[in-house]
Amino acid sequence: MSQYYPIDTSSSLISPDISTNNLQPTKPLKLGVMASGNGSNFDVVAQAIQEERLNAQIQVLIYNNPSAKAAVRAANRGVEAVLLNHRDYKKREDLDRAIVKTLQQYNVDLVIMAGWMRLVTQELIDAFPDKIINIHPSLLPSFKGVRAVEQALAAGVKITGCTVHLLRLEMDSGPILMQAAVPVLPDDTAATLHARIQIQEHRILPLAIAAIGNR
Ligand code: GAR
Repeated sequence: MSQYYPIDTSSSLISPDISTNNLQPTKPLKLGVMASGNGSNFDVVAQAIQEERLNAQIQVLIYNNPSAKAAVRAANRGVEAVLLNHRDYKKREDLDRAIVKTLQQYNVDLVIMAGWMRLVTQELIDAFPDKIINIHPSLLPSFKGVRAVEQALAAGVKITGCTVHLLRLEMDSGPILMQAAVPVLPDDTAATLHARIQIQEHRILPLAIAAIGNR
């Protein structure tokens, strides 16, 4: 069916404000990345740094699941990885205090939540005011929370996408830095749609980091 669909499926629209500028932080940004699973967004940030498209250095990857592939990716790229398993902490605040301590030990000045699947507390937000960014697989404020791609399919929207935003306590709610739109195709499954959204995530995350790093 998709061969009759009259749109260019590779097309997308990135929010124009900063995406067309070749922005680079003037001094190298010290990044802390937080990931729970696959870590493809971690990888594209590391790749952008390697290719000198982003003037930054990843000081540490923090991950919360012992089996997270993100940790393997970090090892492959020579980035130190610290496991902070949420199951070892009684309260969310305790985990967040451990995260803050680790980020401070590694001298991080910008925190990237790249597929971090835990709710955060004020402990983390207060330690890095306006210096934590999150990537989410929908055009916020639509489809907050888990299973955002499935939510978009269930709602029947024809366009969805991804958002990079500043972190606030309320889930998926902070000021939006950058978005990319992705068409929903008639025969999309959550997997096919998420794969196309991720292509756009991988474009906008390094751009958004560069842009915020200039502030
Ligand atoms: C990404 O699609 C990201 O937007 C999503 O998790 C995926 C992680 O992929 N984050 C959320 O849903 C947060 N609410 P990755 O592990 O391959 O980078």
